[in-house]
Amino acid sequence: MCGIVGCILKDREAAPILLECVKKLEYRGYDSVGIATSADEMIIKKGQGKIDEVHEKLHLTDLPGYMGIAHVRWATHGLPTKENAHPHTDCRNRIAVVHNGIIENFRELRDQLEAEGHKFTSDTDTEIIPHLIEKYMEEGLNLEKAIQKSTQQIRGSYALAVISVDEPDKIIGVRKESPLIVGKSEGEYFLASDVPAVLKHTNHVIYLDNNEMVILNKDGVTIKNMEGKVIQKEVDVIDWTPDMAEKRGYQHFMLKEIHEQPEAVKNTLMEASDIKEMVRKFPNFKRICFVACGTSYHASMVGKYLFESLLDINTQVELASEFEYVSGSLDQDTLVILISQSGETADTLKALRIANEKSETLAIVNVLGTTATREADHVIYTRAGPEIGVAATKTYVSQLASIYLLAICMAGRNDLLNELVKIPDYMKKTLEKEDQIMDIASRYKDTRDFFFIGRGFSYPTAMEGALKLKEITYIHGEGYAAGELKHGPLALIEDDVPVVAVLPPGKSHDKTLSNLEEVKARGARVIALGSSQDEILVSEANDFIGFDDEISELFSPIIYVVPLQLLAYHISVERGIDPDKPKNLAKCVTVE
Ligand code: AGP
Repeated sequence: MCGIVGCILKDREAAPILLECVKKLEYRGYDSVGIATSADEMIIKKGQGKIDEVHEKLHLTDLPGYMGIAHVRWATHGLPTKENAHPHTDCRNRIAVVHNGIIENFRELRDQLEAEGHKFTSDTDTEIIPHLIEKYMEEGLNLEKAIQKSTQQIRGSYALAVISVDEPDKIIGVRKESPLIVGKSEGEYFLASDVPAVLKHTNHVIYLDNNEMVILNKDGVTIKNMEGKVIQKEVDVIDWTPDMAEKRGYQHFMLKEIHEQPEAVKNTLMEASDIKEMVRKFPNFKRICFVACGTSYHASMVGKYLFESLLDINTQVELASEFEYVSGSLDQDTLVILISQSGETADTLKALRIANEKSETLAIVNVLGTTATREADHVIYTRAGPEIGVAATKTYVSQLASIYLLAICMAGRNDLLNELVKIPDYMKKTLEKEDQIMDIASRYKDTRDFFFIGRGFSYPTAMEGALKLKEITYIHGEGYAAGELKHGPLALIEDDVPVVAVLPPGKSHDKTLSNLEEVKARGARVIALGSSQDEILVSEANDFIGFDDEISELFSPIIYVVPLQLLAYHISVERGIDPDKPKNLAKCVTVE
């Protein structure tokens, strides 16, 4: 969803550092990249494509000056072209702006500015910002006041970093609805959309809130509200280390993150006593409502099965983007649980604000200090560490670990904690099956359609397997509740269509087995996931991925999803796709 960076350094040039920082934000967008530094004049290099491609052509580190701003773009308004790449400038090339967000009223502002004589060179909504600032500076305002006045004119969401040749030793950042953090180290100051961008340089971070402005110069950092009043903010010390955001020898971040899952779950389970303490203060909720998007929505689906079976409590699951249309029945007896790895997904934040008005809210989030964690009544942190691959993997299993802890604590079922702590070891064993999965991937890499089926606790796993496949292989994948196939999708099953069937031992097993027979009878090739001791399944499946027989249906979602992630990953690589940066997607979706 676009990433922005700014830095003011002490004794070194800014461009190489900006490039390095913005590379850490490439998960937010990779349609184009650009850098601006300013001394006597504004110098900008920008181009269409991924950072490495553009850098090879334009030598992005080759700009003078100790301060500057940079951007990676996920296109919203205007094609992913060089002209639409940020930074954008005013008519006289004296002001440069990078932006993450959407300016909703840009058309009317652009018409107005054009009528006043401003010349535009891109199709973006962003370009109105440097022109507005230019207009107000020409009227005699300084940069800070001109930015304040400009933001009063614009509707929408923005995290901005602005520099001007007329006030050369300064970067000004502003935030409304899009994330912006400030990093402070010895005499050097940073602005960024997310913490991994600055981790190599500092772990001392300030999270800006909506309608706050930060002014960076070589003497330090000043934060003000939009009326210009200085405000004091806490500095958070982040416990992520820079090498957590490196590939550490893996070909892709996604593969590294899949292999980090046992550790991520283990770390997340260490939150048990804090969650117990939080739950002790809960009133007697009569209803649970999960809200999330994408993979986090699938984690919520598991939550529904879990809460209904352990607590016998009415539990609903809603897509965050649909929540405003279905939230009418919220009340004080409902706990609304919002799940988001980033803590900045616009749909989820909107749902959180709606829920906050009527119910108690709890956010399950991976990134410290993000908007969801500040606006929800209660927070549970997943301890997955930074996730860079666009496809969520270790954050998904960590979300599940948090949901299991929460349900177990709310149900007072401490006996189940002993089962939960065994999960990281089962995951390790599952990861050992990677060679078998690579072999399956190489045989199915050219398939056009895939189906994933499961019942009960395995239905969300089927959905998540299909999402991972679509997202990073561009193969059409559908996840279905196995019993639903006969109500329509069965018509799509024909010779050699692969059907991945998730069948852990338990209540849903026999019925899913019958559904598996139905697809086999219509020519499907079955890839089955089940207990290694499930002889019928072993003989019925064309490919069989076996798990420890002790893994019960209840806990199976955390472990059975792992081969599906690996399958999608290896098919993606077989097809020559970069799984870390799938087309059209971004890690953090800050628009509705
Ligand atoms: C997962 O692989 C996706 N990239 C996407 O569906 C993601 O889960 C969704 O956008 C929600 O993000 P969040 O967890 O940061 O809110």
